[in-house]
Amino acid sequence: MAQALRIALAGLGTVGTGVINLLAENGALIARRAGRPIEIVAVSARDRQKDRGVDLSPYAWVDDMTELAGRDDVDVVVELVGGADGPALALARRSLSAGKALVTANKAMIAHHGMELAGLAEGAGAPLRFEAAVAGGIPVIKGLAEGAAANRIEAVHGILNGTCNYILTEMEATGRDFAEVLKDAQDLGYAEADPAFDIEGVDAAHKLAILASIGFGTQLAFDAVEITGITRIRAADIAQAAALGYVIRLIGVADCANGSSGTQRLFQRVAPCLVPRGHALAAVTGPTNAVVAKGNFSGPLLFEGAGAGDGPTASAVVADLVDIARSNVAPPLSLPVASLEAAIPADSGERVNRAYIRFVVADRPGVLAEIAAAMRDAGVSIESLIQQGRPEEGGEVLVAMVTHEGPESAVSRALDLLQGSPSLAEEPLVMRLIG
Ligand code: NAP
Ligand code: HSE
Repeated sequence: MAQALRIALAGLGTVGTGVINLLAENGALIARRAGRPIEIVAVSARDRQKDRGVDLSPYAWVDDMTELAGRDDVDVVVELVGGADGPALALARRSLSAGKALVTANKAMIAHHGMELAGLAEGAGAPLRFEAAVAGGIPVIKGLAEGAAANRIEAVHGILNGTCNYILTEMEATGRDFAEVLKDAQDLGYAEADPAFDIEGVDAAHKLAILASIGFGTQLAFDAVEITGITRIRAADIAQAAALGYVIRLIGVADCANGSSGTQRLFQRVAPCLVPRGHALAAVTGPTNAVVAKGNFSGPLLFEGAGAGDGPTASAVVADLVDIARSNVAPPLSLPVASLEAAIPADSGERVNRAYIRFVVADRPGVLAEIAAAMRDAGVSIESLIQQGRPEEGGEVLVAMVTHEGPESAVSRALDLLQGSPSLAEEPLVMRLIG
């Protein structure tokens, strides 16, 4: 058998230990598939003394992870530390600049610095792979870049964050409290080191920006993603959605079309949405992710599977290593960096859809009339409206409405008209209906 592919692991947390366990259990099978064994030679993390439940004695321990990039006995550096900048980025830059292959699960780093890192990889002729960065164990990057390579991808949408999906579906199924379910997701290894990235929608936005670039052949544009997280969703919203026949899911949506000037218009949004109960995405529960990509010849392609956790994420990391061992290496963002098109962000106001709008209002006469007048003046047509029973006289009540289909700009105009109204106890929450 050919010489082993020698790897160094930076980061020995959920994913790093997952990779050690996977290679220990499936090593022989992987060696047959890859045509050569994959061997860990060196490891690095913050705390050498920590018990990680795996035997690290066969590997060299390195305190400063950036030194892994300079080791002659390492063919591939595997970065499983996290963080867009800091030591992870320093390691990535140093590895690629030295012509050493890099595999990473770090979507924050790729979303922010992917163009630069892809350029470094190209310049040095070094492979850069990040299958685990998007949708955990689902081979969606490979699916888009290779399986759907014959298509123009017109749109991508899906559930891209396991933590949020776990929280929303647990709250829906059990009525448990947001904070309690988030704690579970952290204990199960789904959440980011700082879970604000998950619940504020940023992690899903990192993944969406990567998918959009690979699918559409456009430059990575994370800063252009519109982001709304799930922190403002109340149990009452889940109940209202259920009464209307919907469930709530955090959905990433991206599409790309030629504008009148011939320039590509790129739309990217992550936001909680109402999904009809019979829709494929409504059946996606727990930490599962699902991505639908629409190819112009393939039609819609559905990718579904575990979006987070040690085993599924390790599976994606090692799949990248197998590709490198086989010398099956394509450009990191599926096209050479110089051929990625610069796209202009599309105007979301022109998008047409139905919206769920939830108000928390003062319980006094005239409030509903004020909201209805703002809708009328902005040209928003109301399909249904529910006011929850008053908890106590003079207190706050929840008013939820669903609009008929119309441009998003009209809903924004209506909410602008209500801005600052003493009738509103908090900023209205808007969620789009999909399907
Ligand atoms: P984690 O459990 O928090 O592990 C992070 C590891 O990095 C730890 O071993 C930690 O060392 C080490 N580390 C952190 N900061 C360091 C520093 N400044 N210097 C040296 N070592 C440092 O994280 P994880 O869940 O495995 O995630 C790792 C990466 O995979 C992240 O980019 C994450 O976004 C991505 N990812 C995670 C999942 C998932 O389901 N967890 C799925 C897909 C992608 P100590 O252990 O010594 O503290
Ligand atoms: N925190 C991420 C999630 C891990 O919950 O989806 C997988 O990328």
